[in-house]
Amino acid sequence: MTRILIVDPQAPEPVLIAEAAEVIRAGGLVAFPTETVYGLGANALDGDAIAGIFVAKERPTEDPLIVHLASVEDLPRVVREIPETARRLAEAFWPGPLTIIMPRHQDLPRGVSAGLDTVAVRVPSHPVARALLRAAGVPIAAPSANRFGFTSPTAARHVYSDLKGRIELILDGGSPTIGVESTVLDISVQPARILRPGGVPREDLEALLGEVEVFDGAAAEAEKKPLPSPGMMSRHYAPRARMILFQGEDRRAVMRAMREEASLHLAHDERVGVLLAEEDRSSFAGIDVTTQTIGSAENAAQIAQNLYAGLRALDEGGMQVILARDFGVAGLGLAILDRLRRASSRLVKVESADQG
Ligand code: TXA
Ligand code: MG
Repeated sequence: MTRILIVDPQAPEPVLIAEAAEVIRAGGLVAFPTETVYGLGANALDGDAIAGIFVAKERPTEDPLIVHLASVEDLPRVVREIPETARRLAEAFWPGPLTIIMPRHQDLPRGVSAGLDTVAVRVPSHPVARALLRAAGVPIAAPSANRFGFTSPTAARHVYSDLKGRIELILDGGSPTIGVESTVLDISVQPARILRPGGVPREDLEALLGEVEVFDGAAAEAEKKPLPSPGMMSRHYAPRARMILFQGEDRRAVMRAMREEASLHLAHDERVGVLLAEEDRSSFAGIDVTTQTIGSAENAAQIAQNLYAGLRALDEGGMQVILARDFGVAGLGLAILDRLRRASSRLVKVESADQG
């Protein structure tokens, strides 16, 4: 049975945290909120507990996990050495949504990093995650708390619907403020390379490090290049429905293309959902689609925060097709675009109207 404990997101109750920490120390699985998405945690130093994560999620064992620490001071427990760049990044961005790849400590169970010689590490900022890490007294390995291939959870009920009966405990601390996963950064190469865009925007990393590259998983896959991590495969985070992503600068042209596509599917009696910004709503007036608004297009942080819940809502509504638009590549837009692309089976590039 999976128990749910409701905790205060800002000041989590010590007795509830102690209970969750005890489950972790005993080798069990606890889902908990972080500032990005809910994580599925286990004692990172316990190989059997780690194995349990992969079973619960039905996650392929070659997909490495992120190790969470209470503080940067705990780094020597999980890494062999701390690169100078990592120190600077930690100083600037921890606690927070940045995951840094570092040389793995030999005592860390191999399962954590799927046999790689490196380990992904971050110090989360969410008060519940921090309290749990402190109380458990061990590093906690935690992937997103969804079933493998599903959208990451941004509410305790998402976790429950994916993992009920498979894990001991869910700490319900409300909705994460960021809503997309952490930025995963490889600093073993020059310039540093973003393996997964996320909560810390590229621009912020570049302000500290100078030029930072973004690894294009889809392109590498298409060219059959080796991936830095098996978890980087492009189709991931997917809703059940078939999703089509419309990308373009000219918003009116994008809306027109989406409306035409919607009409085509409606003509085949398909249930069509549209993931939209508030500003887009009027474009779908008068046709029988289910619209899901996830914030203002001017506010990427708000879009990111509501993105996964919006996708899940359309999925739960039984949509057969979901149409979505992009939100540019600035700031959190890049992470949003990455997740939308991974969730989509088709990408439609829409030219500006004046280009014909
Ligand atoms: O925001 C987040 O990062 C959330 C919360 C719970 O912290 N966690 C999360 O974990 O998204 P997960 O397992 O869903 O994603 C981990 C990503 C995967 O894409 C994996 O390939 C990559 O990190 N990764 C882990 N270890 C790695 C390594 N040693 N080298 C390269 N990539 C690694
Ligand atoms: Mg995940």
